[in-house]
Order: sequence, then structure tokens, then C-alpha cells
Amino acid sequence: MKLIYPLLLAAIVGSANAETPKQLADAYSSEAATQSAGFKPSGQRGGAFFAKHFAVSERMPACTSCHTEQAAQPGRHAVTGKEIKPMAVAANSERFTDLAKVEKWFRRNCKEVVGRECTAGEKADFIQFAMESR
Ligand code: HEC
Repeated sequence: MKLIYPLLLAAIVGSANAETPKQLADAYSSEAATQSAGFKPSGQRGGAFFAKHFAVSERMPACTSCHTEQAAQPGRHAVTGKEIKPMAVAANSERFTDLAKVEKWFRRNCKEVVGRECTAGEKADFIQFAMESR
């Protein structure tokens, strides 16, 4: 079962130069469905995850520590103070269009904030949330 996910992602990457947020959400949802039958991404769950204080890291307890509570507004890096473009797809059309970038930042940010890698379901929910944010 584990093999399905990389194959699915490879199929997406091979099919076009750029991915769409919907394609990535679908791919993560398919992976999540192998662990939890009938999985459907939820923007509401994604939003709760985005705002949740995991308290693993003192400097960055939540995703909102850098991305701020308003996903459609620019964020600010909690450590460097550098501006971060909005997470909402409606406000930033570059979001979730490059699988390698998405995987890189999920890996880094989830480890730092959550203390582990995010699950496929959490990623699908997060992208769904970013697609619904205005
Ligand atoms: C320490 C600051 C910081 C925290 C905390 C943080 N991020 Fe980020 N995140 C960044 C930066 C910097 C980027 C890269 C610049 C950009 O894409 O605007 C980024 C980019 C991303 C991207 C890439 C999206 C895309 O397609 O462009 C995802 C996904 C992401 N973050 C998810 C998360 C999640 C989920 C959390 C919480 C578990 C989180 N981030 C917490 C700083 C942070």
C-alpha cells in the first residue's frame, strides 16, 4: 500500500510542468484514504491545524507563528522577521503549484512546529484550507 503514494505523485509530476493545488490535495487525499477509508479533505480541520498551538517549539508554537492567523494576508517569519507571502491560494497563485517545494516546506515546518512529519491527511486538509481561505 505504501507504494501507491510515490507512484501517484510521480504520475502527477510527469503529467505537467506545474501542479495545481487541487491535484496535490487529491494526491494527498488518496494516500490518506489508504490509512483511513473514505477520507475527505476538510478546510475546517486544516484551519484548526493551522492555528493549533503544538507547543513543541517555544519560538514557533504554531503555523500561525510565521504565517499569521490571516491566511490571505502576508506573514512574518517568527525568527528572521522576513515577510512571507500569503498562504491563501486566492491571494497567492504560486501556492501549491510545485510538489517539491510543498514537500520541502511541509517537512521542515511540520518537524519544527509539530515535532514530527505531517501525515498525508493533515497535508490534504491544509491545502484544502488554503484553497478555501479568502
Ligand atoms: C519559522 C517560520 C514558519 C513556521 C512556524 C511555519 N512556516 Fe510554513 N513556510 C515558512 C517559510 C519561510 C516558507 C517559504 C516561503 C514561502 O513559501 O512564502 C514556508 C512555506 C510553507 C509551505 C509551502 C507552500 C507553497 O506551495 O508555497 C507550506 C506547505 C507550509 N509552509 C506549511 C506550514 C505548516 C503546515 C506549518 C505549521 C505546521 C508552517 N508552515 C509553519 C515559514 C514557516
